[in-house]
Formats: sequence, structure tokens, C-alpha cells
Amino acid sequence: MSICIRSPASIANLGPGFDIMSLAITEPYDDVYVEIGHNGNDYIKFVGDYLHYLPSDYKSTTMYPVIEEFRRITGLDFKVRITVRKGIKPASGLGSSGADAAALTYALNKLLGTNLDSKSLIRIAALGETAAAGVPHMDNVAASLLGGLVIINPVTGDFVKVEVPSNYWIVVVLAGSKVSTGEMRKLLPSAIDMRDFKNNSAYASMLIYSLITNNREILSRALMGDSIVEPIRIKFYPHYGIIKETLLKVGAIGVALSGAGPSLFGVFDSEPPRDRIDELLRKSGLRDYVLIITKPTNTG
Ligand code: HSE
Repeated sequence: MSICIRSPASIANLGPGFDIMSLAITEPYDDVYVEIGHNGNDYIKFVGDYLHYLPSDYKSTTMYPVIEEFRRITGLDFKVRITVRKGIKPASGLGSSGADAAALTYALNKLLGTNLDSKSLIRIAALGETAAAGVPHMDNVAASLLGGLVIINPVTGDFVKVEVPSNYWIVVVLAGSKVSTGEMRKLLPSAIDMRDFKNNSAYASMLIYSLITNNREILSRALMGDSIVEPIRIKFYPHYGIIKETLLKVGAIGVALSGAGPSLFGVFDSEPPRDRIDELLRKSGLRDYVLIITKPTNTG
């Protein structure tokens, strides 16, 4: 029995929503082919781009904890053969590892007939993130599984999916390199000031409302209103200022780090001018970047 899943990249945090918000985008994506049987050994093979970024030992991938969890739940000693065609660059801030864990979770749920609900699927897929980040954060996997903009409570696993209006475009600029997501998380404080809590809670709430109601001005402030996480992380990304300034100059409503970086994303409400963005980024001296013009997707 086999199945092939196309799993979208996702933009986590969206500015003020650290670990609680993520948006699925149409491109890039990974195609994940999963086959189960009872003989032979497990194997996970990556094909396509970015192979040198990926672990050679399949037990170190984000998919291995998912396989183990399904074996635990079902009590079955099934064997699994997985081929992942990578389209999402690993360690770029686009939920690359989460997309594969999400796809495999969805696939095994179908192939094994376990009929788990979405909350359980998110929990299992997030176990895979432990392999990449040291802790099972749920935001990227939730968006890859469900599509749309997912708001998730990482404490309880409660979530809602918000359908994103079709007028929005997303520009992603992949540049620079990142210390691992785990390292980028270790930089963060374990406790925060109440003032920052109120600021981020207010902007995270406004972000959703203003996105749905097309309130450009508030959406702009909300996307760029994180006072807790982004100010710490951007110190590690020298390209941050150039990209942010460029995207705002060509009409982005707001710009922020995508997940833990190093990519940045900009939200637009009309088609972004690719050539102009390229021209400005080159003029500013930025080299070795990839420009992706994409859209939110409401399908996981
Ligand atoms: N919310 C996570 C973080 C996303 O910012 O660490 C990582 O892709």
C-alpha cells in the first residue's frame, strides 16, 4: 500500500505569534511517497535539491519519531519505505522538516487506517520536530497538515484554522544561513515582561482580524510588532535590514522573519514586482539569495 503526499512549506510566527501561528504557502513544497509493508527494512531516501543539508541516518530525520509513534499506537511492526522529493530548503525557516513529518503522519494515518483526528495528527507530527529543534513545536506541522493560517495553543494542542482571503501574496527571500532552530530557540528568554506579553498578544490577535478584514494599516503594525523574539534573532542575520527595507519599499504591508530565519517574508495585497525586488536587492549588495513569490494556500 502506498500514497504520495504534497506537503506545503509554512511560515511560522508571522511576527508576534511565536510558536502559536503558521501560514501554509503554495510554493515551495515537498512530495513525500510512502509505502508500508511487512518485510524488509525501513528506509528514507531524499531526492531533488538540498541533499547535502539532510541527515544520512534515517533515525535522525523528523520522520523517524512519527514512525515510532505509529508503531506504538497501533502495536504493529510495519515497515516503511519513504522517498522525499525536497523542494523546501532545509534550515531556511520555511518548515522544511515539519512538512515531511506532517506528510508522513497524514500518510501513515491513511495507510494504517487509524482515523486519528487533526489534534492527534498535529501532536504526532510535532514529535518529529524534536529531531530538528530539540522541542516538539507544533506551528509548522499544523500549517502543513491543515493549510491556511493555523493558530495553535502549544500547551493544550487546541487549534483553529483560519482561511486566508485570496487577495494576498507572499514574498520569501532566502538568504544567509542559520544556526539550527534548536540554537535559535536557546537564545530566547524563559520568562518575559508583562509589557511584552501584552504587546505581542494584542498584535497577534489584531493580525488575524486585520488579515481577514483587509485592514492594511493594522496588519502592517501587527506583522512588525513582535517585541520578544525577532529583536533577539535578527542580531544573527545581517541581511535582515536590507531585505525588510526593500520589500517595504516595493509595497509590502509588513515584513518579518520566517520562523526562526534566516528567510524573511513580506505580505502583499497585490502581485509583487519580482524584477524590481531583484534589482533593489542586487543594488543593495545582497548576493546568494533566492526570491520566491508565492501565495497562501488553504489546503494542507
Ligand atoms: N516557532 C518556531 C520558532 C518555528 O520560531 O522557533 C521554527 O520554524
